[in-house]
Amino acid sequence: MEQTLILIKPDAIEKRLTGIILSRFEALGLEIAGAKVVCATEELLREHYANLQGSPFLDGVLKFMLGEYNHLPDHRIHAFVLRGENAVARVRAALGATNPEKADPWTLRGQFGCIKNGVMQNAVHASGTPEEAQREINLWFKPEEVLK
Ligand code: TYD
Repeated sequence: MEQTLILIKPDAIEKRLTGIILSRFEALGLEIAGAKVVCATEELLREHYANLQGSPFLDGVLKFMLGEYNHLPDHRIHAFVLRGENAVARVRAALGATNPEKADPWTLRGQFGCIKNGVMQNAVHASGTPEEAQREINLWFKPEEVLK
């Protein structure tokens, strides 16, 4: 069964959207195979966003992901492993485009995202490919924290 990683970002945590977002994935028939609250470090986020190395918006993304633009008392991120048939592509489709202003209105990013402080505050991260999903799951979860 295919697995994917999703991260509920600080904008969505501040708006208390975690339950609503998860219910959309559950409605698609996806199963929660891992769940945790992580106090993210800059080191972990740099590793997660290694593909953005050298990009002009990396600093803004790191600040956003560390909660600096939201009113949270710490660096919390809600992390989930979801699994199911074609999970990676179906979750990405439910997210919509990276840019929330361009995302279709029925998608999670279209409904809950915005651009603020020059950063796309787009509510949810999800892995882009099955290979990326395995790398990201190993980064955020220990093997024993995920259902086999
Ligand atoms: P990326 O990995 O390209 O997109 P996705 O999250 O859809 O896989 O980019 C990572 C995050 O960086 C993205 O969710 C929002 C932020 N970002 C910006 O703030 N500005 C930009 O121009 C881009 C491309 C991304």
